[in-house]
Amino acid sequence: MTKRQLKLGLVLTGAGGPGNHNLWLDPAVPADASVDIEWYIAHAQKAEAAKFDLVFIVDSQFITPDSPPHYLSRLEPLTLLSGVATRTNSIGLVGTLTTSYNSPYNVARRFGSLDHISGGRAGWNVVTSGDAGTAGNYGRDEHYDYDTRYGRASEHVKVVQALWDSYETDALPRDRGTGQFLDPGKLHALNHRGEHFSVAGPLNLERPPQGHPVVFQAGDSTQGRDLGAEVGEGIFTHAATLTQAKAFYDDIKGRAVRTFGRRPEGLVILPGVGVIVGDTDEEARELERHYRSTDHSFDQALAEFGRSFGWHDFRQYDLDAPFPQETLVFAENSFRTGAQRIAALAAEQRLTLRQVVQNSLQRAPGAFVGTAETVADRLQEWFEAYGVDGYNIHAAHPAQLDRFIDEVVPILVDRGVFRSEYESDTLRGNLGLPVPGNRYEARADAAVPVGV
Ligand SMILES: Cc1cc2nc3c(=O)[nH]c(=O)nc-3n(C[C@H](O)[C@H](O)[C@H](O)COP(=O)(O)O)c2cc1C
Repeated sequence: MTKRQLKLGLVLTGAGGPGNHNLWLDPAVPADASVDIEWYIAHAQKAEAAKFDLVFIVDSQFITPDSPPHYLSRLEPLTLLSGVATRTNSIGLVGTLTTSYNSPYNVARRFGSLDHISGGRAGWNVVTSGDAGTAGNYGRDEHYDYDTRYGRASEHVKVVQALWDSYETDALPRDRGTGQFLDPGKLHALNHRGEHFSVAGPLNLERPPQGHPVVFQAGDSTQGRDLGAEVGEGIFTHAATLTQAKAFYDDIKGRAVRTFGRRPEGLVILPGVGVIVGDTDEEARELERHYRSTDHSFDQALAEFGRSFGWHDFRQYDLDAPFPQETLVFAENSFRTGAQRIAALAAEQRLTLRQVVQNSLQRAPGAFVGTAETVADRLQEWFEAYGVDGYNIHAAHPAQLDRFIDEVVPILVDRGVFRSEYESDTLRGNLGLPVPGNRYEARADAAVPVGV
C-alpha cells in the first residue's frame, strides 16, 4: 500500500483579498497583479516547481467600493486558468464557479474545455455564492434562499457530471479510412428534467481526460456540508486549531460514508491556512504582527465587516453599543453560517460592535507561524492526526511564498510527508482520486438516465 501523502494547494490572488487592503502598496506586489496573467503564470510555475497539487482561484461576482483591491478588478477564473494551463504541465488548476448563476451545460462545457486544454488538470470549486448582491447582476431581485441554493447545487453538479459522460470513450473513431467520424450509438443525450434544471444534451465536447474534472466544494452550513459529503472530491474549509480541523474532518467524512455510502479516501480535505516563516519563532510572530497591523485599518475592517451580512453598512451603528443582533436578518441569504457564528460569540461575550470588529483585526495567533522546522512540524502533526489531508496555502506576502517553498517544503519532502516528483500528469492522479467510469459504458443498457 502506498504511504498517505500530504496534498498542497496554493491560493492564488493578486493585489490582496479579504482583509488585505494594503498589500498592493508593497512594491513586491504589482498594483495590477490581479489582472496580470503573467503574475498568475509565474506563481503557478513556482508552485509547480515545488510539486504542489494545485493552484486555486477564488471568485465572486458582486463588489462595492469597500471590497478589497483584488476583488475590485480581477480576471474571470476559467479564462485565467486557460492561460495558466498553456504554460504549466503538471499542476492542478482549480477555479470557483457558482451554481446559482451559471447553467449546467455552460459549466460542463467550460470545465470540460479546461480539462482538455490542460491535459487533465481541471478542478471545479462548486459554490452557491455567499454575496447576496450577486442576484442583482443576474436579473434577480433576491438571492436564492439556502435550501434552494443547495438544492440547485446538488442537481447542478450531477447534471454537469452526466453531461461529461455524453460521449463514450471510443465514440469518435475519426477514421479517415472508413470515413467514420462519429459512432452515433456511443453519443448520449441526457433529456434531464429536474426540479431546477432541464437539459437535453448531449454536450458538444468529448469526455474530458480525467473523465470528470475534480469537484471541490466549500460551504460550512449543514446544507453545505451535505453537499460536500455528497459530491465533493476535494473540500476547502478553514480551521484555526487542530481540534476544529479534526471535528470538521470527521464530520464531513462521516457524512460521506454514512449518508452517501462513499469511501472516506474518495474526498480530500484541504483547509486554507496562512503560513509565516521566520529565522526564529519570535521573528515569525513579529512578522505576523507586522502583516496584521498593516494589512487593513479599523475603518477598512468596519466597512468590509458587512460582507457576511449581505454588505449591510455597519458604519451607521454606535460602535460602543452592544453588537446589533438584529442585523442577522441581512445575512439570511448571504454568508449566514459565518454571520451566525460572529453574532453568537458577541452575545455570549457581551461584545460591542467595536470589539467585534477589533476581534476581526486581532485574530488569535496563527497555527503555522515560526521557523521552517516549526511550520513543518505543525503541518505534519495535523496531517498525521487525520485533521486534514493537506492544505491550501495562503502566503501573507510573496516573500513568504518563497520562504515556504524554499525552506518548509524541502523538510516535508525529507521526512517523506510530501512528494519530490509528481505521481501523475492529472490532478485526479496526484490527489489519489479514482477516474469515474462513464455511466453509459458501465451499463449494457445505454439509455441510462442522469441519475440525479
Ligand atoms: C474555504 C472556503 C472558500 C470559499 N470560496 C468561495 C468562493 O471562492 N466564492 C464564493 O462565492 N464563495 C466561496 N465560499 C462560500 C461558500 O460557497 C458559501 O456560499 C458560503 O460559505 C455560505 O454558505 P455556508 O453558510 O454553507 O458556508 C467559500 C467558503 C469557504 C468555507
